Amino acid sequence: MNKLSVELSENNVGCYVKTDLKTVNDLKIQEIKKLLNKYAVLFFKEQNLSPEEYMRFASQFGKPAKYPMLKPHKDFKDIYVIERKKSDKGLSFGEGAHLDSVYMNNPPRFTFLQAVEVPEEGQGNTLFYNQFLAYEALPNEIKTKIENLKGIFSSKGKIAKTRTLREAEHGTSNTKEIKSQHKLVQTIDGRKAIYSSPGHIVGIANYKADQNELIEFLSSHQTKKEFSFSFSWKKGDLALWSSASLHAATAFNGNRKMFRITVQ
Ligand SMILES: [Fe+2]
Repeated sequence: MNKLSVELSENNVGCYVKTDLKTVNDLKIQEIKKLLNKYAVLFFKEQNLSPEEYMRFASQFGKPAKYPMLKPHKDFKDIYVIERKKSDKGLSFGEGAHLDSVYMNNPPRFTFLQAVEVPEEGQGNTLFYNQFLAYEALPNEIKTKIENLKGIFSSKGKIAKTRTLREAEHGTSNTKEIKSQHKLVQTIDGRKAIYSSPGHIVGIANYKADQNELIEFLSSHQTKKEFSFSFSWKKGDLALWSSASLHAATAFNGNRKMFRITVQ
């Protein structure tokens, strides 16, 4: 009765969920959590949640996490603002496939992003890469090899350069490196997914063979076109993803403002 209507996106990377998030009840929240575990990323079109409604929705998935590298919303400190102006130069924040804050010991489990202002359609898309599908497509020998390996993830990994602009305006440049280790395979609801962030991985713990070779292999496998979907934002759209989905911002030229919440 409460089943939500869903439609898979291209390459089965996540799905569109048709519902009005302004009026979700507990049953719907439970259903959304199940869908999130199953599909890794969910898209809710034209929700236009107020900051208050947005916080209320996100808080039902966990405790809001801090992210000192971005500026918070002026009235809602757990909503972070990702803004780029047409006149901005350099890389977009978050270009290059990654998992959010994976260099922390307890990285956020879920990320919410709502579009407040968008450039013209097809510009400023976000790419998503489904890591259940990526894991399942691995050769068996690699599955066995990585089963118990731990990746070493650094806040100064190669994606750090996309933060330079944001940090400069927010005065958080020159922060010290944060590193953490996590198993390269995670299981969600009985299904395995690759857990590695190409933008942050700098090594593999206790792995004697050629580390770069395995890192390169994994990173390029994880981001193959067949596991990817380019989501085109409209104002008010909301995406919600778990660590079973990598994501990447894309280059664009225009004004764009997004509200992000991560939860633990
Ligand atoms: Fe991100």
